[in-house]
Amino acid sequence: MRTQVGIVGAGPAGLMLSHLLHLRGIESVVIDKRSRQDIEETIRAGVLEQGTVDLMTETGVGARLKQEGFVHHGIYLRFGGRSHRINMYELTGGRAVTVYAQHEVLKDLIKARLDAGGQLLFGVDDVSVEDVTTDAPKIRFSSDGARQELDCDFVAGCDGSQTICRFLIPDGEIRTDYFRQYPFAWFGILAHAPPSSDELIYAHHERGFALVSTRSPDVQRLYFQVDPGDSVENWPDDRIWAELHARVSGEGAAIKDGPIFAKAILQFRSFVCEPMQYGRLFLAGDSAHTVPPTGAKGMNLAVADVHALTRALAAYYESKSTDLLETYTSTVLRRVWRAQHFSYWMTSMLHRFPDASDFDLRRQLAELDTVTGSLAGSRLLAENYVGLPLT
Ligand code: PHB
Repeated sequence: MRTQVGIVGAGPAGLMLSHLLHLRGIESVVIDKRSRQDIEETIRAGVLEQGTVDLMTETGVGARLKQEGFVHHGIYLRFGGRSHRINMYELTGGRAVTVYAQHEVLKDLIKARLDAGGQLLFGVDDVSVEDVTTDAPKIRFSSDGARQELDCDFVAGCDGSQTICRFLIPDGEIRTDYFRQYPFAWFGILAHAPPSSDELIYAHHERGFALVSTRSPDVQRLYFQVDPGDSVENWPDDRIWAELHARVSGEGAAIKDGPIFAKAILQFRSFVCEPMQYGRLFLAGDSAHTVPPTGAKGMNLAVADVHALTRALAAYYESKSTDLLETYTSTVLRRVWRAQHFSYWMTSMLHRFPDASDFDLRRQLAELDTVTGSLAGSRLLAENYVGLPLT
């Protein structure tokens, strides 16, 4: 088999890359170890920046998003027992976020690729990538019991946090020590319940952080901070609702409960590797960086990476220019580090650290007061939350 760009991983980065390349007349093959069903059903993030929404719309994969997604013009920061709205729409000159689950984005991209005759191979095994420092890299894998070799011009490592591609960059040539572990995790639930709020609520509370999000008029997504060593078994439904009520309900907010049908604990990390390229291998998305979910940036960063990578590959195929390929890492890492800063800021402003003193809690409240009480502070948060424009 032969293609121009071999893509390892059918998540947001890999599928969006394949879609964008196709629109530029560049061929790709996407492989993934997971089944299509697994990819289309795994619950992940759900907030799309304005730039991600615009890109999906402009490239013809925005129809269902427009129909089923929820456009939010603001968010609430809740602290000291009261909610404070950040009017992102006004503060950013008309930008917003859309709540639309990541696996729905993946369904739309998979359908678009298959409708266009794109090659997506699910459920492959024994994947290895070779010769990335030559001009003829290869991906080897097993598919339906047969060994395959895919010859490519370039390989895109879009294989998420369990990446094999990142490990092709030799130890001496990569920094992987940009890493931070947080002393807490999120307990996430999906519940059949009416929405508790018209917009997302990010709640600071002395018992710990909580987040009220949504998926549809009758399915709600809620999270609350727990100890990273905690387990789902410790949390029967009653205890979950009591904790969410304690952290969120009160003046101007009321949690509405209902049957819970999914529970999971999400660990928190910040990570960046540098460079994000080696020879003809280019990393994109979670294979190269991870952010804590507080800023809702993970999927959006993956999209921004492949938007930049598409431009670089298109310049190569159109004019043999390698300038944009050579500067890929520095181009995308600028945005990645800004998202790292934003996610870290939101996380540290809103969560209770295990060793937090009353001084620390008061300092956090003052920070939230500054952000919500100042036009400059609110705008800083709003601009970053709706996302920087795609360059
Ligand atoms: C979600 O709806 O899953 C969600 C929303 C906002 C976040 C993180 C996750 O910051």
